Amino acid sequence: MIGRLNHVAIAVPDLSAASATYGAVLGARVSAPVPQPAHGVTVVFVELPNTKIELLQPLGDASPIKGFLERNPSGGIHHVCYEVDDIYAARDRLKAEGARVLGDGEPKIGAHDKPVLFLHPKDFHGTLIELEQA
Ligand code: CO
Repeated sequence: MIGRLNHVAIAVPDLSAASATYGAVLGARVSAPVPQPAHGVTVVFVELPNTKIELLQPLGDASPIKGFLERNPSGGIHHVCYEVDDIYAARDRLKAEGARVLGDGEPKIGAHDKPVLFLHPKDFHGTLIELEQA
C-alpha cells in the first residue's frame, strides 16, 4: 500500500546551523527557510536525488514540535512520510488493522498542499508516520 518515501523530517533547535550542516558539510542542495505558520514550523528543504529531508524548527508557541525538542534538545528524527495513492482507502485499511490515526482521523492539508494523516508511533515501532496523498 505505501509507496515512495516522500521525506524524512528532522526537528532541530537551530535551523541555520542545521542548514549549514546539510549544505556546507554534507554538500546537499538546501532551500532558504520557508515559514509555515499554519503548521507551526519553519522548514528548510534538503533535496536529495531520491527523496527529501525536511529540517523543522518551531514557529510560534503552539508549535507541534515544541514538546519533541524539549525531550530531544539537540534535535532528532521527528517523522517519516510515505506516499499513498488514496488516503481515505489507506486510513480505512489501517483502522481495520487496529492502527490509531492521530487527531480526528480526517485528512488535513499538509505542508505540500496535499492531504495528510499521522499514525500513532506506538503502533509503528516508535516512529511517527505521516501518510501523504501522492
Ligand atoms: Co512531514
